[in-house]
Amino acid sequence: MNIAVYPGSFDPFTNGHLDILERSMKLFDRIIVGVLLHPSKSCAFPVEKRMEMIGKVLGKNPKVEIVHFGGLLVDFCRKVKAKAVIRGLRAVSDYEYELQLASINKQLSPDLETLFLMASTNCSFLTSTIVKDVARHGGDVSTLVAPVVAKELKKHFRA
Ligand code: PNS
Repeated sequence: MNIAVYPGSFDPFTNGHLDILERSMKLFDRIIVGVLLHPSKSCAFPVEKRMEMIGKVLGKNPKVEIVHFGGLLVDFCRKVKAKAVIRGLRAVSDYEYELQLASINKQLSPDLETLFLMASTNCSFLTSTIVKDVARHGGDVSTLVAPVVAKELKKHFRA
């Protein structure tokens, strides 16, 4: 079985993440969405809420599992027997960080491959940070995230 991990903070899960995930599903038998427990950047949503939102966006899908992880990504991939890590690339500005990430992961786990999918053009500017900023100021995020995420953002920033 070809298993890949799609890792991230997903704070929150955007239409850009969904785009990458749906396209990855065509390439692998199983995708494990790895939700990072404690990203270095502080999160708007706790990990349980981030996972719950992803679950609601995806609905029931036998090909996808949503799992949280802490520690090194390579250790998590080893544990779930993943052959590859999926990452989305938007603009050139993503490249340097992603190169660092892929290089260190390759050094730590030579058999693990990182696969990059180019973001679809309508998602090429989309980041969780931008989405939160728009939501924080009361802007319309309905074209950027799923309705359930938009609802949670509204609730979060109203509180
Ligand atoms: O959505 P993000 O925040 O860009 O995802 C970053 C992520 C989760 C892929 C990265 O921070 C990560 O893999 N963290 C786990 C710790 C780790 O393995 N560090 C070494 C490689 S950076």
